[in-house]
Amino acid sequence: MGLCAGQIRQGRAVAFHHFRHGFRRASTGNGRLKARLEHPVLGYSRWNHEDFKGAIESWYQRRFDVQIDKNAIVYGPSVIYIIAKLIEKWSKPGEGVLFQTPAYDAFDKLVEGAGRRCVRNPLIKTDAGWNVDWALLESQLADEQTKVFLLCSPHNPTGRVWRKEELARIAALCDKHGVALISDEIHMDVAFKPHTPWLGFGMQNRWALVTSASKSFNIPALNGAYAFIPDDNARNDYLFKLKEVDGLSSPSILGVIGMMAAYNEGEAWLNSLNGYVHESHELVRNTLKSAFPAVNYQVPDATYLAWIDLSPLNLDMQKLQSDLIEHFNVAIMDGGVYGEAGKGYVRLNLGCPRSKVQAGLEALIGAVKLQLAG
Ligand SMILES: Cc1ncc(COP(=O)(O)O)c(C=O)c1O
Repeated sequence: MGLCAGQIRQGRAVAFHHFRHGFRRASTGNGRLKARLEHPVLGYSRWNHEDFKGAIESWYQRRFDVQIDKNAIVYGPSVIYIIAKLIEKWSKPGEGVLFQTPAYDAFDKLVEGAGRRCVRNPLIKTDAGWNVDWALLESQLADEQTKVFLLCSPHNPTGRVWRKEELARIAALCDKHGVALISDEIHMDVAFKPHTPWLGFGMQNRWALVTSASKSFNIPALNGAYAFIPDDNARNDYLFKLKEVDGLSSPSILGVIGMMAAYNEGEAWLNSLNGYVHESHELVRNTLKSAFPAVNYQVPDATYLAWIDLSPLNLDMQKLQSDLIEHFNVAIMDGGVYGEAGKGYVRLNLGCPRSKVQAGLEALIGAVKLQLAG
């Protein structure tokens, strides 16, 4: 029996495959959310005001030590929605959108769904972490059919935080070959090394930074994301689509309030979350190392996702999945969901209490041992 989505939905398997973390969100925003719900009117709402933009500006100052241009901020219902609109703007059907693999599976879907072509740039795994294949990257960017680089920064699922020099090198290559750059920074807040926001790196105007507080603060159900689009033409085009074409410019009021509360009041909570998640990564490394010395799990630079390479064990990954469900009642995402480059990996979500991480690890080790014994 394979992994059954119904089972997971009904809560019968302990799930580690989610795209978000499972900690209780910061309670700091509760009062504000409740107070808004007490208001007798829940009409259309606005995002283009100082409270919203100021909360973002202040977050970037405090967290990343950078000054953003508030005029470049736009709201969107989700990160993927904004990215999809920018891809439509900066490429035509049949043209290429480059992203590094393994990749969050929505990237494939959104690029192909828009009738564009996926240009996959595989990251190289070394003993010291994940690296860019620069020669391949340059040849792919030099292809005149490649129009957009969809960067994931920090990178999901490897958790790589890109260094400033790497970002500057990417910017120079994109500029040289006339490729627009969209930086998806939804994982920016759970990072164990300093994250550098993409704010152009000297690149001409065809770039955007797209992000949201939803993932870090566990509020995606409230809806909402935002982006910096410095180019007036691209920004106005985006706003036209949001408002006139798609009819989505009135944000979820709870999403706006939730995001402002997260940025204005949630920093201490986020800092302790980062420390806790980092310790969970260390637990994964140590536990796997003692169970299977061949598995060399490295603590990533960022994210609450443990991207675990089981390929040294030569496992039947389909059997691993069914054993996890059947014998251990646990669902852990198969790396193959993240494309060819994810084969032989599993992705364990560490955004949960330590006891649950331990239970997930025990199940994983048990299922692997079962297979190795049989
Ligand atoms: C890299 C990345 N981008 C975007 C998203 C989804 O964001 P949204 O729900 O706001 O579209 C995710 C969710 O896992 C993600 O990992």
